Amino acid sequence: MNTRVLKINSVSQQKDILTAAQLLKNGALVALPTETVYGLGANALDEEAVKSIFAAKGRPQDNPLIVHISEFDEIYNLVEEVPPSAKSLAVKYWPGPMTLILKKSKLVPDVVSAGLDTVAVRLPNHEVTRAIIKAAGVPVAAPSANLSGSPSPTTAQSVFEDMNGKIPLIVDGGACRIGVESTVISLTGEKPSILRPGGVTPEQISEVLGDVAIDDAVFHNISSSRKVASPGMKYKHYAPATKVVIVKGDREKYYDFLEKQSGNFGALCFEEDASKVNCKYVSYGKESNSLSQSNRLFNALREVDSLGVDVVFARYPFEDGMGLAVLNRLLRSAAFEVIEVE
Ligand code: TXA
Ligand code: MG
Repeated sequence: MNTRVLKINSVSQQKDILTAAQLLKNGALVALPTETVYGLGANALDEEAVKSIFAAKGRPQDNPLIVHISEFDEIYNLVEEVPPSAKSLAVKYWPGPMTLILKKSKLVPDVVSAGLDTVAVRLPNHEVTRAIIKAAGVPVAAPSANLSGSPSPTTAQSVFEDMNGKIPLIVDGGACRIGVESTVISLTGEKPSILRPGGVTPEQISEVLGDVAIDDAVFHNISSSRKVASPGMKYKHYAPATKVVIVKGDREKYYDFLEKQSGNFGALCFEEDASKVNCKYVSYGKESNSLSQSNRLFNALREVDSLGVDVVFARYPFEDGMGLAVLNRLLRSAAFEVIEVE
């Protein structure tokens, strides 16, 4: 299959928007830009189309997909009920990097929810993609547009690397502003629970809902046999071919640690560390700016393989705010291997 890349910078490109929408309507896969990462979209109500997402990514069948909508009212078709908590969060953070898990309606096919009785819904903050969903007239199921296990794509070029020859169209809407995926919040239990940290921080969720839980799988490796709230969290993720090991400690301790290493290693560090590390390195953002880190992390993980080293030692990010999302992705890319040097 020939994969076309189409630049759409504005909703005034009506013809191009209709091209993408028509493909979705016809059951084809289209990669779409969002403010978090690029998604691999299909008509969520078309079982065959949704199945082809799993095939293109090599995604395990038991990992459910997020359904994207173009305006709030479209949620009513997808869920059994919209609780007040969902409405309050939506008013504050939609369109935006937040996904809500609610009881699903009968309209949502089982392939989308991987057999669960819940569905994940998101209203993304990218006007081109919202216009495409609106023109398609159907909700759009979209996981991140990477091959399963690889870092999520934050540019059309990264999507092309993973999806060339597998899908007919990639919509290039520029680099993703946030760079890590949305915050996934379950509203189906007694207490709201963050299943995956992202662009909307735990503090911001608490501002609206009060007490929120953070699922265990955010920090710990969950064995694949255990039943988890969010099936996606049990898989190894975001991993470059090169081994990643995280080093927890302040910057001086980190430099000392690197000095003591032998063999063919590199660093996955912050920009400020660049002149201090005596080895090949890739940097991922500024030390005290979580947004700059989330912006860079997935590209940095893709670049790590070109260093030609056996292992990279990564600096441990701050856990506050957006930092929790950065830490969660880094932990998963390192298969949770952390060395403490404090
Ligand atoms: O920012 C994002 O969320 C991006 C863009 C494209 O919107 N999408 C994305 O999709 O990251 P994906 O498929 O890579 O991650 C979806 C996550 C997975 O961890 C999955 O297990 C979880 O959401 N999920 C989906 N439906 C769920 C459900 N019904 N219950 C619990 N977790 C669910
Ligand atoms: Mg993903």
